Amino acid sequence: MWSHDGERGPSQRPAPHALAPVAQTSLWTLYHRAAAARRDPPLLTDPAAVELTDRCDWPFQAWFGRPHHVAEQYLARRARMYDAATTRFLRRHPGATVIALGEGLETQFWRADNGTAHWLSVDRPEVIELRRAVLPHGPRQHAVACSVTDPRWTDHAVARPPSLIAAQGLFMYLRPPQAAALIRLCVRRFPRSVLLFDTLPHVTAHLAPYALTRGGTFRFPTLRGAIRPSALRLGDTGQRHAVTVRSIGPYAIGPRATARLILAAQRSWPVREALLPALVRLDIP
Ligand SMILES: C[S@@+](CC[C@H](N)C(=O)[O-])C[C@H]1O[C@@H](n2cnc3c(N)ncnc32)[C@H](O)[C@@H]1O
Repeated sequence: MWSHDGERGPSQRPAPHALAPVAQTSLWTLYHRAAAARRDPPLLTDPAAVELTDRCDWPFQAWFGRPHHVAEQYLARRARMYDAATTRFLRRHPGATVIALGEGLETQFWRADNGTAHWLSVDRPEVIELRRAVLPHGPRQHAVACSVTDPRWTDHAVARPPSLIAAQGLFMYLRPPQAAALIRLCVRRFPRSVLLFDTLPHVTAHLAPYALTRGGTFRFPTLRGAIRPSALRLGDTGQRHAVTVRSIGPYAIGPRATARLILAAQRSWPVREALLPALVRLDIP
């Protein structure tokens, strides 16, 4: 594990295609966020993602195929929900630290920074290396190259609470006991803080890798329906905390006439609960 605040030259840039499949998912999300931001009207305002994908001449289409419209909607909506929660939190705590677990090549800092917050990106060493090579960090941005399952990343987090811990698109890559241990670690180490993470229902976790692929050489790693929001409501972390769960969706799918029916179905409770991803917010006492 190491912390990294230095710069690297382009000649030393790590090769993205050499990353492990889980690490490559950070390129998949970047590709789709940038595509969502390029739409007219845009699904997300993310000039840093557009600029980064333009600047790096990576063969995204050969890796991931054409951008998938449902993936664009999913990732844009998810990012907007994280951004809204982050902006609200920083309005109340302007100098606080945002700890972005599994941050990959997320450009949220450039969408949600308030000019005084601190940012700590935590990801696997090869991803942090790539991030630092292509996304120049400012003085309030820090990085820790470490698995989130290794509790030592918490030593790098600013001790003064509260912090916002945001695990966008991370929990589906953790085994359920790892996810539960990570929640317990955050609850123990970050009192009076907020933990945000998103989950996939089991069915969606199994179908998404096939449904969201449109050619390309990339193969999704196993996605897991990590922590069921309903299980959290029953307090399976062993702690008392306020939990809020919100669906990430619905999605426009198919031609106009069927899309309207599919949209309506997604708004019904059983379909929402069984199929739609969810954003979970835990207020740590
Ligand atoms: C789907 S990407 C999401 C990236 C970013 N948060 C976003 O929304 O664009 C998943 C990220 O989680 C990271 N990740 C997965 N397992 C991890 C672990 N055990 N420790 C640290 N990072 C991990 C991957 O390296 C990758 O960057």
